Amino acid sequence: MKKLFIKTYGCQMNFYDSEQISNLLSSSGYSMTENSSEADLILLNTCHIRDKAVEKTFSDLGRIKKSIDQSDNKKSKPIVAVAGCVAQAQGEEIIKRSPWVDIVVGPQSYTDLPSLISKVKKVEKKKLINIDLPTIPKFDLLNHNINEKKISSFLTIQEGCDKFCSFCVVPYTRGPEFSRSTNSIMMEVGKLVKRGTREIILLGQNVNAWNCQSTENSFFSLGDLIDEISKFEEIISIRYTTSHPLDMDLKLLETHQTNKKLMPYLHLPIQSGSDKILSKMNRKHTVEEYLKIIDKVKKYKPDIAISSDFIVGFPGETEHDHKKTIQLINQVKFASSYSFKYSPRPGTPSASFEKQVDEKIKNTRLQELQYELKKHQLAFNQKFVNSKIGVLILEKNKKDQYVGKSPYNQTVILDEKVNTNQKYLNKMKHVIGQKLEVTITRAFQNSLEGRLSSESFS
Ligand code: 5AD
Ligand code: SF4
Repeated sequence: MKKLFIKTYGCQMNFYDSEQISNLLSSSGYSMTENSSEADLILLNTCHIRDKAVEKTFSDLGRIKKSIDQSDNKKSKPIVAVAGCVAQAQGEEIIKRSPWVDIVVGPQSYTDLPSLISKVKKVEKKKLINIDLPTIPKFDLLNHNINEKKISSFLTIQEGCDKFCSFCVVPYTRGPEFSRSTNSIMMEVGKLVKRGTREIILLGQNVNAWNCQSTENSFFSLGDLIDEISKFEEIISIRYTTSHPLDMDLKLLETHQTNKKLMPYLHLPIQSGSDKILSKMNRKHTVEEYLKIIDKVKKYKPDIAISSDFIVGFPGETEHDHKKTIQLINQVKFASSYSFKYSPRPGTPSASFEKQVDEKIKNTRLQELQYELKKHQLAFNQKFVNSKIGVLILEKNKKDQYVGKSPYNQTVILDEKVNTNQKYLNKMKHVIGQKLEVTITRAFQNSLEGRLSSESFS
């Protein structure tokens, strides 16, 4: 059997795509390897969202070239393929900068990989590029046969974006908003369930913009889809990400209130706490409107954990704007968040805006912002000490500890005692994949520690 090595950069949607690529190529006789030096096919599934991620791709390509040249492995040189958003945005440049790359394939056209691979073998030296945004959605061309058992599985239901935030490459790399059909999604859920999945994480660049005409021809939105998925008895936890504030519809809020399988966690990026910057970002809402949306969500689901994304140093951001973002963070007290330095992306409107912010200032602002975010994250986690929560046990980590996820998306590590106590260990074989009651004993910045409550074994 031929060996496939995949390195994935960036967002969860890329990780979903990598799984699909691995499934797709297993039908062409490829099995996965963790070791690039023994691979017959090396594939980089890339991210274009910030410059750092792009440069990582190019430096990794350099390293791959070096190791291929130095290899005394007599077998033929591996095929090198670049997939994902860098491929979409900079296909020609990849071939120019790294002429040893054989295949360049965009995020909507990787279903073409088996045929591109067979062509590479026949037509040596010819570079094969497919960065089409095809009319037949890739989901209809995938077999969705799942090789691996996974307790928690990603499932992409929506792709692309029509929002055109002025800093963002997604509308160009992933194309316009597209919602996958309910039938196709439910078929994949069925296959995942058969493979042992207990948690589904619905993915989309604007996941809450997902919609579809149902069979009765009535409008079907994300809340309806979640209700439909939760009819599978085996599915005990459902999450979704990433949402846009302006697409939080009433049905989704009602589903948070009524559907016990939908987890109380919402990733709702705001990017900045300054109305001036939000307007320059083309976010189409103000800080006040965002706060009102959060208030409304909390009316339906009072204990919901809210997280966000932030960008510091957007062009024109002053110290005053930055303070407003910090003020917002201290007001909302986000449970967790991601924060980034603004990275000008070629082809996006804000790359040519005046008053680009100095890198040193970006660094200072990022540190200040992260200090506040971490403070609230730790405080949020500390609130759980001594309380009992249902934890879905996912796996054993490298330290041989059982690791799970709380309803609020916190990582929960089961403590030493549980790992060494024979009474527990006997039962533990059946623990992975179950939602068990855990008493939280300690809280850290990025995780909780807990002990299985005795009730879990009754
Ligand atoms: N620079 C920095 N961060 C960005 N993001 C998107 N584009 C950029 C950029 N040009 C961040 C946003 C988005 C997250 C996925 O990545 O915060 O929500
Ligand atoms: Fe990018 Fe999200 Fe804005 Fe779409 S809504 S352009 S994906 S930041």
